[in-house]
Amino acid sequence: MNILIVGGGGREHALAWRLSQDSCRPTLFCAPGNAGTANLASNLPIAAEDVPGLLAWAKTARPDLTVVGPEVPLCLGIADAFAAEGLRVFGPCQAAARMEGSKLFAKEVMTAAGVPTARSQAFDRTAAALAALPGFALPVVIKADGLAAGKGVIIAQTREEAEAAIRSMLEDAVFGQAGTHILIEEFLAGEEASILALVDGEHAVLLPSSQDHKRVFDHDQGPNTGGMGAYSPAPVVTPDLLPVIRDTVILPVVRELKRRGIVYKGVLYAGLMIGPRGLNVLEFNARFGDPETEAVLPRIKGDLIPALQACIDGTLNDTLITIRPEASATVIMAAGGYPGAYKKGIPINGLEEAIRGSDSMIFHAGTARKDGQVVSSGGRVLAVTALGGDLKTAVAHAYGTVAKIHFEGAHFRTDIAHRAFNR
Ligand code: AMP
Ligand code: GLY
Repeated sequence: MNILIVGGGGREHALAWRLSQDSCRPTLFCAPGNAGTANLASNLPIAAEDVPGLLAWAKTARPDLTVVGPEVPLCLGIADAFAAEGLRVFGPCQAAARMEGSKLFAKEVMTAAGVPTARSQAFDRTAAALAALPGFALPVVIKADGLAAGKGVIIAQTREEAEAAIRSMLEDAVFGQAGTHILIEEFLAGEEASILALVDGEHAVLLPSSQDHKRVFDHDQGPNTGGMGAYSPAPVVTPDLLPVIRDTVILPVVRELKRRGIVYKGVLYAGLMIGPRGLNVLEFNARFGDPETEAVLPRIKGDLIPALQACIDGTLNDTLITIRPEASATVIMAAGGYPGAYKKGIPINGLEEAIRGSDSMIFHAGTARKDGQVVSSGGRVLAVTALGGDLKTAVAHAYGTVAKIHFEGAHFRTDIAHRAFNR
């Protein structure tokens, strides 16, 4: 069985690693992949956003399955383009991917489906947005409608900050087309958690809960990043909440989309806030989360491919996924300066030694091979994951492996899973 994985980050290396262990022993291709996927798959020199290029390759190579990692190709309609050529794709069609691609659309669907979420109002003109601002308490959240690589959400502590955010999006177009429409949204307090649900158009199977660490420094200080680590399970998602999330968040959205003629197949990722106002949805993503995937996939026991196939065929059911009881922790090792400017091409030392005699997994996030040496090629460089009998053990194992890996300027958070430990 030939499988194409689209993307080149830690999520895609984790997918390649997980799929490579399925009993059918698939032959993997990764576009564009990285130095880590190169050990498991043939890397293809095609960018994840180059849908025509990917389609041209797939029309000749005819992979049995394509698994799409990032949101951009999904929002560009890769699933539709592949399906039109009779190619099987795990990932939502363009219309369904709008759950991530347009925050206005996602809100509209949530409202119609009765899914709990923060009160918000949509605007495309500055004057109207500024006039509505006093109707929201501080802090207030300003969101660009479209894809903004995780930067399109501003939590304004003061009215001045909120006004500046509105102007920067609607007048100065700092997010380009993504910010021609915005949402003003009430701020929700609480603890965040991520739920990745497999969806087949009608049924949903929830993968174990996880929690991301968005801020760059310990104690949740400093600017937001793509995610500095994750762990699973997240105790804030108590076991009794999982069926509630399925029945009041995931399935109502899938049904509302179906009512609109949109069949959702793939991963529906709910970013949740759990706090004084109960359970609320902050956002949806149309794909596996990164770095949540690096923490969640190692907890899936047995085969994964049949579950992905069942999503495409509409035959998903709970028996297709088995979860290991162990907890997992993922620590991101980032390049010096990240999430600001950082250097690329920095040699990474200790990878072989770190993995020897260890059951940790070192997923490459931003790496390349240069003259036989693994070097950095991105801001998030490695995602080091370990399993453990409990979360403390998993975290300790992951940091034990991190300590053996060295590259100039490397930094990482030392408090992954702190919320779980401070409960
Ligand atoms: P996103 O870029 O869409 O992943 O959202 C970024 C982050 O903004 C979320 O993970 C939350 O930490 C925060 N956020 C978004 N909406 C709200 C809200 N209504 N209240 C509080 N925090 C929010
Ligand atoms: N970890 C957040 C995301 O994948 O969007």
